[in-house]
Amino acid sequence: MRTWSEIYPPFGVAIRCGDVELSALTPDVVPELVELAIAGTVRPDTGYPFVTNWALLPPAELRLSAAQFYFDTWGSARPESWQLLMVVRRGGQLVGCQDLRATQFPTTRIVHTGSWLGLAHQGRGTGTVMRQMVCAFAFDVLGATQCRTEAFLDNPVSQRVSEKVGYERFDQRPVERLGEPAEEVYFRMTAEQFNRPTEPVTFAGVVAFRHFIDLVD
Ligand SMILES: CC(C)(COP(=O)(O)OP(=O)(O)OC[C@H]1O[C@@H](n2cnc3c(N)ncnc32)[C@H](O)[C@@H]1OP(=O)(O)O)[C@@H](O)C(=O)NCCC(=O)NCCS
Repeated sequence: MRTWSEIYPPFGVAIRCGDVELSALTPDVVPELVELAIAGTVRPDTGYPFVTNWALLPPAELRLSAAQFYFDTWGSARPESWQLLMVVRRGGQLVGCQDLRATQFPTTRIVHTGSWLGLAHQGRGTGTVMRQMVCAFAFDVLGATQCRTEAFLDNPVSQRVSEKVGYERFDQRPVERLGEPAEEVYFRMTAEQFNRPTEPVTFAGVVAFRHFIDLVD
């Protein structure tokens, strides 16, 4: 019998750096992850940081909505459009979520990232390291030429993480957030601009994942 990661290669991806580990979000981790989200993700000193209202939902709705989003994301991943969902552990403790996504990657070589940490785990440098780790994966394993990310203008913490990692701001546009007008800031970074983490980054599950997204060796 085959394992889950042999059947569905995104489930086999893992990235390690010092005491931080990113590993594929799998169905068995969802119950613990949603309780972390319910305990709080949104800082009182920033605007609401997400595009959808998921973090504001009552607990039962948040659990169901998150689970449905994860199943949709796993089920719809194809070489031409995929999103790799990873959980973040620091010192073995579950602290948050980091994703990596792309459309038409073999042609564009551009990836996008998004992330969140439980409130109790923010402000300790983890957000910076996990972004550096996923960008190292994008550049070194996938051969990305550019990493992109975006943040609302009133989310200076996320913007600061992007600046520390080496991104440059290249655009700002009006968008809708929870039915209200907001401004979104766009960042991009090449491998040459990338400030790598101080400790080495190691990867697992990369050959199968490269095949899954149709990267030719
Ligand atoms: C964004 C997030 C992932 C960053 O993770 P983190 O572990 O808190 O970030 P770090 O500790 O690595 O770095 C935060 C940086 O922001 C700085 N910062 C904190 N508050 C700030 C503020 N109000 N204004 C400007 N910078 C601020 C910190 O000083 C630090 O920079 P420094 O190392 O130069 O001192 C995390 O805060 C989070 O989950 N926030 C809620 C969800 C979210 O915003 N997700 C991103 C959506 S785009």
